[in-house]
Amino acid sequence: MTQPLQQVDASGRLRHLVTLDGLDAGLMRELMARARAYLCQPGQLAVHGDDLRGWTVANLFSEPSTRTRASFELAALRLGADVVNLDVMLSSRVKGESIIDTIYTLEAMQVNVFVIRDAQPGIVESVAQQVGEHVSVISGGEAHISHPTQGLLDALTIQQLKGGFDNLTVTVVGDIRHSRVARSAHRALTALGIAELRLVAPEEMMPESHEFQGARRFSSFDEGLAGADVVMMLRIQKERIAGSVPTDIGRYSEHYGLTAARLARAKRDAIVMHPGPMNRGVEITSEVADGPQSVIRRQVANGVAMRMAVLAHIAEARRRRAS
Ligand code: CP
Repeated sequence: MTQPLQQVDASGRLRHLVTLDGLDAGLMRELMARARAYLCQPGQLAVHGDDLRGWTVANLFSEPSTRTRASFELAALRLGADVVNLDVMLSSRVKGESIIDTIYTLEAMQVNVFVIRDAQPGIVESVAQQVGEHVSVISGGEAHISHPTQGLLDALTIQQLKGGFDNLTVTVVGDIRHSRVARSAHRALTALGIAELRLVAPEEMMPESHEFQGARRFSSFDEGLAGADVVMMLRIQKERIAGSVPTDIGRYSEHYGLTAARLARAKRDAIVMHPGPMNRGVEITSEVADGPQSVIRRQVANGVAMRMAVLAHIAEARRRRAS
């Protein structure tokens, strides 16, 4: 029987990053601190480094992506790595090659890190179990289960704008049942010690009762929003809903769309987050998405910095193990 994946090495450093489950809060804080060193002001030249000089990073995405794929590519390039982007739907996978044969093929080309996005639960961990000792695997989003670097960049954004996590109420709104972003946010923010996580969704978009331990559940958006410090909006994950989307979009938007009037129920200094891609006019109005409380573009900027932090940490851990 396959042993559970050890994503940290004997000294507690990351070898892989497949999930935030069980990840130490101290390590999350360390990654956030490292990421902050890679941030710069809009208009300034991007920060570069050479932590990945000589390394090769392969992005294997079998689901669409704008932010995650582009930010992993930029993160790797800015740290000095060679990068290969494989569009899995245009690769030999469509001719019947298994993912592990694709991985072994790229491993033979001296790939050191695989970033994998896949709709099939368990694929990322399975690959991590089978790669060579010198190879690392990072999830770029796994089915509805996990999006660890998104969870970390969301935590970084909250830390920057709120100064920490204590006493914060975070309200997550929308299709939580099908959301890997919400699951990774729950892992990160619970570990980091927020005061309260609230889930707001219609019944068909609420996760099973055994999930999201400790969170308070609301069907009323207005009740879930009252006094919130952070409002995290999610899109309806149509690609993960079997059959047609059951919800009347107009009705959904009326009850669960974030408007400026509704946002006034949260704290005056509440921030509005969205992992993207947004469906403007459905879960969020343009007035809110582009408004003064929105930190959506900050999340994108933090995404590159956090992915640089994860890659640099993994490379440093490898060098320590080798020395
Ligand atoms: N947030 C996120 O994962 O966006 P992409 O699907 O564009 O990568």
